This record gives sequence, C-alpha cells and structure tokens, in this order.
Amino acid sequence: MGDSLLSAHAARNRELWDHFAADYQKKHGGQLAKAGAWGVWQLPESQLRVLGDVSGRDVLELGCGAAQWSIALHGLGARVTALDNSERQLEHARVLMAAAAADFTLVHASAESTGLANESFDLVFCDHGGMTYGDLYRTVPEAARLLRIGGLLAFSMHTPILDMAWPFGSDHPSDCLAVDYWDLHTLEEPGEAVAFQLPYGTWIRLFRDNELVVEDLLELRPPADARSSYRDDLDRAWARRWPMEHIWRVHRSSTRSPRS
Ligand SMILES: C[S@@+](CC[C@H](N)C(=O)[O-])C[C@H]1O[C@@H](n2cnc3c(N)ncnc32)[C@H](O)[C@@H]1O
Repeated sequence: MGDSLLSAHAARNRELWDHFAADYQKKHGGQLAKAGAWGVWQLPESQLRVLGDVSGRDVLELGCGAAQWSIALHGLGARVTALDNSERQLEHARVLMAAAAADFTLVHASAESTGLANESFDLVFCDHGGMTYGDLYRTVPEAARLLRIGGLLAFSMHTPILDMAWPFGSDHPSDCLAVDYWDLHTLEEPGEAVAFQLPYGTWIRLFRDNELVVEDLLELRPPADARSSYRDDLDRAWARRWPMEHIWRVHRSSTRSPRS
C-alpha cells in the first residue's frame, strides 16, 4: 500500500514494526514456532477451540508477523491469505513459509484498509495483530466488509482491564487503575507502537453497528506454571488474578440492516 493511503498511526507503526521485526523474531520466534496457540501465554487452540474447522475455508490473518499461525492453518487445509503492515515482518514470513513448503498469498497492507474484495473470507482472525495496532473504528468495519455472511471474526488482544492497570512508562501492570476507562481508544507511548482499546460497551456497539454478532469473549487465564518469552513471573501472577488478554469471537450477521 502506498504511504499516502496509510493513516498517520499505521505509518508510524509500519516504521516501528519494520525496526522491531528482527529482534522480535529472535526473541519470540522460538515460542511462536509452537504455532496454533493464543496470546503471550500460548494457550493452545486445541483447548480453546476458537477457530473451528478451517479445512477448505478462506482465511485471512490480519497482522501475521512471520506467519507462524497462517502456516499452521495452511497445514490444516485452510486457503490462507496473510497480511501485515510491516514488510520486514513479511520477509520473516517468506523464510518460514519456504522452510515449511507452505505457499499462500502475503499482503503488505494495514488492517484498516486491506484492498481485498468484499465478502471474500469465511474467517478473519489475528493474535495480537492488526486489531490491536489499527484504529478499531477502521479495522472492525474493514473486517466486517471482508467476511461472508455468517463468517467468523476472532482476535486476541489485551483487555481494557490490563490497559487501565498499566501505567505509562512502566514495565509491568500494577494492582491499581492508572488509565481512565472512558477515554480508552488510542494508547500511545514514545518509542512504542500505537495500540487501540475501547470500553466494553463501546466494543459491543461497534460490533452491532457493523452487523457483527458477539458469540463469546474468552478471557484467558494462564496456568500457574505458564512460561512466556513476552512476560515474566510477576506478570503471570497478575494474569492469574485478573484477565490480561481476551479473544473476541463475533460472526457476521445473516441479515443485513435496512440501511446497508
Ligand atoms: C505483536 S505482533 C504479532 C504478530 C503475530 N500474530 C505473532 O504472534 O507474532 C503484531 C503484528 O501486527 C502488525 N501490525 C501492526 N499494525 C498493523 C496494521 N495496522 N495492520 C496490520 N498489521 C499490523 C505488526 O507489523 C506485527 O507484525
């Protein structure tokens, strides 16, 4: 996608993720190689059963990184398209795809404006991807546009509770609330990628306004012995008390509203 079509925060995130990509894959590639597991604590899809049977389905990953998830789903028979806003991340994806002899389409674009065709996917998903780092007032309508009627949108991200409890500039969440709930939208810190979040009621209304029906909100609790390349023991103790990550599971309504 040409830079002129990118939103300002997507352009900033592209620059930052291009910069982070090599270190990110070096630090987390080992954990991510255990593909088919969700979030920083790697809770297995085989237990959570978020995506269902992907065989023969048209699947889009929004913010694929090095495409470990997409390679796994391709191996299960999905027709995969994997998109990322960072060309450096997609370079890592090409290396892993070649190693796995997995051939599918990679797209360099923002999840806010993919350039892909209307109603062309049965499943749109990501694991801390474009739905975290794109403006939700753009990414949710875009994902809804891409889904066929009845199709599933599923994505993991931080919870509003975590974002409220994480003081700016700190390495860890605290047990006090530090960020105002009502203002949740854009989360910006110097040197960090811009992330997005919403109050719970606003999430529900945004889904509803885009003809998406909530099926589930899976709040992820790591096991007591969980290990992560992203988080330490303090963070695990926090996540054992409060939800750190969750997965929205919503489907495209089978009826269209009169206005569409
Ligand atoms: C934390 S990584 C997660 C990637 C992958 N799911 C993983 O577990 O490694 C976030 C990814 O989102 C991508 N990203 C950031 N902003 C994006 C946007 N607006 N659209 C699509 N992808 C984006 C980044 O380039 C990065 O690859």
